[in-house]
Amino acid sequence: MSHMKIRKAVFPAAGMGTRFLPATKATPKEMLCLVDKPLIQYGVEEAVAAGCTEIIIVTGRGKTTMEDHFDKSAELEASLAAKNKTALLEIARSVSKLAKIVYVRQPEALGLGHAVLMAKEIVGNEPFCVLLPDDIVDASTPCMKQMVEAFNETQSSILGSEVVEGDAISAYGCLDCTPDATNPRLLAVKNMVEKPAPGTQPSQNAIIGRYILTPRIFEMIEGITPGAGGELQLTDAIKALLQHEKVYGFSYEGKRHDAGDKQGFLRATVELALKHDKLGPDFRAWLKDQSF
Ligand code: G1P
Repeated sequence: MSHMKIRKAVFPAAGMGTRFLPATKATPKEMLCLVDKPLIQYGVEEAVAAGCTEIIIVTGRGKTTMEDHFDKSAELEASLAAKNKTALLEIARSVSKLAKIVYVRQPEALGLGHAVLMAKEIVGNEPFCVLLPDDIVDASTPCMKQMVEAFNETQSSILGSEVVEGDAISAYGCLDCTPDATNPRLLAVKNMVEKPAPGTQPSQNAIIGRYILTPRIFEMIEGITPGAGGELQLTDAIKALLQHEKVYGFSYEGKRHDAGDKQGFLRATVELALKHDKLGPDFRAWLKDQSF
């Protein structure tokens, strides 16, 4: 296992997206458009920026628009080429050239741990990333790239982490951890709990939807029983992994948006629109003129 390189990224994307109804009744949550591209594309671009060359999307019923999105569209390309719309042609092409993307189905929504387990054969015996497409991280160095750099030092599992206030921690996996002496962004994890009841949390350090995991995690997932919410929880499997290997939290640099939540999605839309190369300046000027 020494000096393994991260090449693969797993995207659990089989959930029903009930928090975002009615938008997600017939449209996969991962395909909701944030400014000018679907949520899942942000995650895939982040994984590619981190050096991943193989993307594994764990999908389910009614999610085929994701596959169409990342596939080559011969008709669209031919039509844009015939009209000499080269800039648009380049945008359409670049999406299908991002990475090698493979799809595996999760037949039943049995939990995040179960979703990750669906990728076991495709990942094989190497460390890999997991990105939850709802969590959009806006950072000058992409969050997963920061984490891969840390992994290259530790060669251990690393969980993206941030401090959340008060009882908000009850919506997350929570780390019992201490600062690591070698790297100010690393946290040495002692224990963890999924969605602690308010007042019982060991800390305010939440796990965010960014993970680098060693392949032993699959064996751990196979050994767990349903936890919080009756689901096979990834957090419980990582807790089991702690009995065998070191696990670190990682205080990433950047700002996370929970784009799977309506309020979070609205805020992400405004912030990312303001930062957008082409749309930002006009949008900012328009926003300033409004008297809401
Ligand atoms: C999942 C994980 C949780 C983590 C969160 C980050 O929860 O189970 O540990 O903190 O993602 O977004 P979910 O949001 O699916 O309930």
